[in-house]
Amino acid sequence: MAFSRNFIEELKKRNNIEEVVGRVVTLKRSGANLAGKCPFHSERTPSFYVFPATSSYYCFGCGAGGDVVTFVMQTENLDYREAVEQLAKRAGIKVEETDTPRSSAPAVKRERLWEINREAGRFFYRALLAPEGANARAYLIKRQFNSATVKMFGIGYAPGGYDSPLCAFLISKGFTPQEILTANLGRESKNGRLYDVFRNRLMFPVADVNGEIVAFSGRRLNEEDERKYINTSETPVFKKGKVLFALNLAKNSKSGSFIMCEGAPDAIAMHQAGFDNAVATLGTAITPEHARIISRYVRTVYLAYDIDKAGRNATLKGIDMLNQVGVDTKIINLGTETKDPDEFIKKFGADAFRAKLTGSTGQIDYSIDEIISRFDISVAEEKLRAAGEVTKFIASLASRPEREVYCERAAAKLGLTPESLRAEAERLAKKNTRKAGGEYAKKALDTQSGYGDTPNADKLRFSSEASHEEAILGILLVRSDLGPAAVNELDENDFATALNKKIFALFRDDFASGSELVLSKDGVLSPKEIGALEGCRASRLALGDNTEDALRAQIKALKELRSRADYDKKIENDPSGVLKEYLESLKNKVNDKKPEDQNGKGS
Ligand code: UTP
Ligand code: MN
Repeated sequence: MAFSRNFIEELKKRNNIEEVVGRVVTLKRSGANLAGKCPFHSERTPSFYVFPATSSYYCFGCGAGGDVVTFVMQTENLDYREAVEQLAKRAGIKVEETDTPRSSAPAVKRERLWEINREAGRFFYRALLAPEGANARAYLIKRQFNSATVKMFGIGYAPGGYDSPLCAFLISKGFTPQEILTANLGRESKNGRLYDVFRNRLMFPVADVNGEIVAFSGRRLNEEDERKYINTSETPVFKKGKVLFALNLAKNSKSGSFIMCEGAPDAIAMHQAGFDNAVATLGTAITPEHARIISRYVRTVYLAYDIDKAGRNATLKGIDMLNQVGVDTKIINLGTETKDPDEFIKKFGADAFRAKLTGSTGQIDYSIDEIISRFDISVAEEKLRAAGEVTKFIASLASRPEREVYCERAAAKLGLTPESLRAEAERLAKKNTRKAGGEYAKKALDTQSGYGDTPNADKLRFSSEASHEEAILGILLVRSDLGPAAVNELDENDFATALNKKIFALFRDDFASGSELVLSKDGVLSPKEIGALEGCRASRLALGDNTEDALRAQIKALKELRSRADYDKKIENDPSGVLKEYLESLKNKVNDKKPEDQNGKGS
């Protein structure tokens, strides 16, 4: 599972970080380093830095950081091995064969899962056109999906009954029961027989971005069936949170935007009506991965979720997640007569839908409306609270003119004067800028301070210890030659916070040998954890004092804090014992009166 250090070093050498990052981020020189706008969160001024000297990157705004391998993992949604393989391919080097099999290596190869899904798709498609598919065909006609659409999306029919025609077919094609089970196309009954997961359902194949079928979404044809939709559960080639239905088609659209909706039938109806940029999340669970994938293709997304509560929540979540990756959102308001885009287009036609796109609400108006709708503003008290919440939201907008405009609009909605919101919005905005602004090093400190979303949960409890730990790790990342000295004086139990303890243990041997660390090592640390480490390195680079003396001072300070903590714990657990010890020591001091026995440390 692990690659050799030589191989990874060679890989990093051949994949220059400036170049790999430069493919995604426009970088400008900034002293010895390069700066650009962070690809992992939305920002107007660059706080994303590439450090060629250490082959690493770090964002002072959001704390993302790492090396070429983690960069590819994060921007292309790959796991560790996949990212390594891709970089090796790009650089034209052969991927090292590793002796130990990958611990998480799927027993069934991905290629086989693509093949089995392709065969299943063909099977469903044929069944739709066969006599047994008559009901399904009638249903498609009722839903007004035409034959070109059926073909383009490969819509099919899963025959009913427990005679398991699909499993039988797949076995006849040479697939093993294990492959059928892993693909989630079949399940095993109590007496060990394979049976079909999808029975009497209309089948929508779900393709990945390259057009490989990775899953199916099956809609019931019998309204009596309990579950309306059955989607393939997770397999080695299908993670629901990473796949967007119809992305393989929408990515070729010339529109420059996506329309994002809940259901496969909605996306299909939109494509049929000429909106070739529609994608679906197969439900309301929008993930940060979805947002990141989208941000690679478009700058604008129209959200067309169902009009019910779940759909509105998904819309808010979508706005937030897409904003974080720098994608603008517009919200389509379909009115109340139909519940989703499919029904709307059927009832009012493609032109009416296009008009809804043009007349879509900006994300800011939508958010203001959503906030206000949570209060009953006919009650004076509630109205004030609504005003407070709305003002807070407006204060988060980046430009002053924008804030002015939305104060006016929000005030009108609330029946207040704009002035009543403006002063407070500006006061809060100023506070926000003060928080967000500042220099290089200060930004680093902010990100490092442990508030909010931190991979090191112990940081608030052990804030002093954590600051020394981070200084130590940071110095060691800048100066790998100091590693042996550190290992002589420290072991992982000197670290108070769980994350730093884990990191020190993980890299102990590398420190001891004085070699450069490979933070993405074996994919053990999460991207967030690697980001936190890059933060330690970046702070030290900004601070500049990375001498051996500085390292020793930090180690000493950490150890003092730790021994004091030990002492406090002892008192807590056994107050009289500690007291006795203390009195004993006093007695000894009085008896000997030798100054070197006076151990002043920590008492
Ligand atoms: P909806 O209930 O809104 O269905 O679920 P729909 O898309 O309008 O479907 P039709 O028009 O009645 O055929 C939206 C999406 O949520 C997922 C499906 O992906 C569906 O398309 N879903 C829904 C499930 O996964 N399971 C369910 O039981 C229901
Ligand atoms: Mn529907």
